Amino acid sequence: MTEPKWKHSILYAASIYAVLYLVHSSILHKLLLGHEKLHIKRNPVLPLRFRSDGTFKILQVADMHYANGIVTRCRDVLASEFKGCSDINTTRFVKRMIESEKPDFIAFTGDNIFGPSTSDAAESLFGAFVPAVESKLPWAAILGNHDQESTMDREELMSFISLMDYSVSQINPSHNDLATSDIDGYGNYHLGVYGPPGSKWANSSILNLFFLDSGDRAVVQGIRTYGWIKESQLRWLVGLSEKLRIKH
Ligand SMILES: *[C@@H]1O[C@H](CO)[C@@H](O)[C@H](O)[C@H]1NC(C)=O
Ligand SMILES: *[C@@H]1O[C@H](CO)[C@@H](O)[C@H](O)[C@H]1NC(C)=O
Repeated sequence: MTEPKWKHSILYAASIYAVLYLVHSSILHKLLLGHEKLHIKRNPVLPLRFRSDGTFKILQVADMHYANGIVTRCRDVLASEFKGCSDINTTRFVKRMIESEKPDFIAFTGDNIFGPSTSDAAESLFGAFVPAVESKLPWAAILGNHDQESTMDREELMSFISLMDYSVSQINPSHNDLATSDIDGYGNYHLGVYGPPGSKWANSSILNLFFLDSGDRAVVQGIRTYGWIKESQLRWLVGLSEKLRIKH
């Protein structure tokens, strides 16, 4: 007596399924875990909010030009200061600023990393934003014309930055911000700062911060120049600010 054929088919299908399952799960394992533990983004307390004394302090940091950390020497310092001066001095400076000023929010406004001296954009971003991440304060960044000159393009940079701990950066407008998929650049977003706790403005934004990507470089009529803010971005800015004004 031979076994019915369908029994073999089921066994065969089951073993294929088992092999596929194992391959699939080990690949997934590598993707998700790499060599390190799975990291879930840490978020700051939101929304951004004025303090009870009615203040909201922003620390703005531009042009850190961070590259490879301790091996990247300082530029534009006196010859006598050159020795022992590196990106780490920038890190210490930003940390000191955060400690002494105690801001509520940090805004990094471009040339955070310096592409031409950077060998790995992800490593540089981690290094550049160490003071902000360690402070656990909400922080946001946009790009300058040097950020994308190494291993990541502007879209990759903004998506990486938006996934870093305590970052409230966004790649482009969120859906509640009159989504415009055809907006120029990467790093156009709005953040509302709410009124002090317990006040009558506690549930609404009373200060609107707009971040706009001013581009990197451009060639106009054969002449090399810098980028600029485009019509699509202005339409978004004007539209959203009108919408926010009507709400109040
Ligand atoms: C850079 O940091 C080192 C170590 O703290 C310090 O000795 C040096 O003076 C700093 N350089 C500048 C130019 O501030
Ligand atoms: C804000 O929202 C909270 C929670 O919904 C509510 O308890 C509070 O009364 C609201 N405050 C104002 C000023 O609307």
